[in-house]
Formats: sequence, C-alpha cells, structure tokens
Amino acid sequence: MAKGDGVTSFSVDFMSDLHADLHDSPLDYAALKKNDIAVVAGDVASDPATCLAELKKIAAVYETVLFVDGNHEFRSGKKGFRYNFDFAAVEETLREGIEQMPNVVYLRDKPFVKDGVAIIGRNGHWDYRILKGYPWRQAVREGLGLLGADFNKAASFSKMARRDYYALRDHILQFNGDPSIHTIVVVTHTVPRAELIDFKADSRKAKHAQKGSWLMRNLLRHDMGKKVKFWLFGHQHAAKTQQIDGVLYHENPRGHDVQAARTYRPSVLKFGT
Ligand SMILES: [Fe+2]
Repeated sequence: MAKGDGVTSFSVDFMSDLHADLHDSPLDYAALKKNDIAVVAGDVASDPATCLAELKKIAAVYETVLFVDGNHEFRSGKKGFRYNFDFAAVEETLREGIEQMPNVVYLRDKPFVKDGVAIIGRNGHWDYRILKGYPWRQAVREGLGLLGADFNKAASFSKMARRDYYALRDHILQFNGDPSIHTIVVVTHTVPRAELIDFKADSRKAKHAQKGSWLMRNLLRHDMGKKVKFWLFGHQHAAKTQQIDGVLYHENPRGHDVQAARTYRPSVLKFGT
C-alpha cells in the first residue's frame, strides 16, 4: 500500500522447512493464506521433484511465491535421504521446474523488487566455521556421519556457502547504490549467525557446525545504507524472532513430522514503513 510520503510497504506470508514428504497431512495453503506473496525459505521436500510438486500447490494459491532451496532439496528421496552432491544439476532441475510456474521466483537467480523493497535470497549452506573454536577439519570429519558422505563431498558445502555469500554480498552492494530501494530483505535457508543457533535442541557440535556460515555475519558490513531490515531463515527447526543491530532475524519452520505437534501456520511480515 502506498503512503503519502512516497514510502511504501507490503506484507508477506513466511514459511520454511515444510518437509512435505515427511508429513501425513498436507498443509491447506488456501486456508492459511493471509497475503498475496509467500516467501518459502527451503526444505520444502527431500528431493527436487517433490519440492517442485509442493511449490506448484503453493503457487496455485498465492499470487507470487519467492523460493530459496534448502539442503533437503539436494537429497534424493526418502530412501536414506542420501545427498546428490552434483549441486549444479539439482539447481538446474529446480530452475527448469520453476520456469514452468510463472508466479514462482527462484531467488537464487533473481531478486524480487516491489515498492522500494528488494528481497534477495540464497540457500546459504554452511562452512563448518560458525562455531568459535571448533576447527574446520574437525567439524567436517565429525559431521560426516550426519551427511552420509566422504570428507571431500562433505567439505564441498563450504564452497557452496562461499558462493552464496558472495552472491548475496553483490546484491547488497547493488541495492545500497540504488536510491529507489529503502529496504533489503535477506532470505537464507541456513542460520545467519551463531547467536541464533538453538543449542538446547542438540548437544552435538558437529550438528551445529552445519547450521550456517560464519561468513554471513560479514554481509552487513557491506550494507552501508543500513537498508537490511529483515533476515528470514530456516534449517534448524526452531521458531525465532530476534532483533540484532537493527535487523529482525526471524525463523518460522514447520519441521519434521515428529517435531510438528503444534499446528503450523505461516508468519506475517510487513516490509517498509
Ligand atoms: Fe529442515
């Protein structure tokens, strides 16, 4: 909605970690919908095809769906949830599927701009460095069992994390230099900073080392105009809302079937003033 002073705002429905393949009861998006735009922060399902099928359901209800992939999109179905480490091939499958859905935006490929608000997004992955004092090599080695991978494959997540960080940094620089943008919203699947990690949920350091990327905290150094006001994320299946240095960090996951005793609903966020 437009205001007299030229500053504008709009609201979105935010959801993450829908894990559609792990639930017996599908979400009734039509009943849950509060706004015309849905932001979906990854882990829609445990393989690209099921993810695309669920996105199609969401896209049938919302005018616009903004999507970033999660780590589960890189798995290969229920059978052991093995990862497909050909990341580029998975992203291409998602891209091709999303191209068939004109109202779905794969934020990985293009930001979404509306009414002076730029929404940028990437999976984020993890670099095994988010925990202070836990050496990278040890974090990779101790995390191998969780991923079902060998050392080199497990380590390749670090490469993805770097790639996603630099892509987001370029967007931050671009929109800082754009006077028509007053607000930047960052969407990642993984957790953007260590302060947001839910350490109570698990005692395994290796698990937390796969929560996010240490690099991400540097992103805001490039936000010279303090335009980043929101950072939406998922991955750790803990509901969170926390303001740090002028940025509202927010997580609203559905989670796995065993975790989702509560009734899940998207949260509503208003961007702009
Ligand atoms: Fe998840």
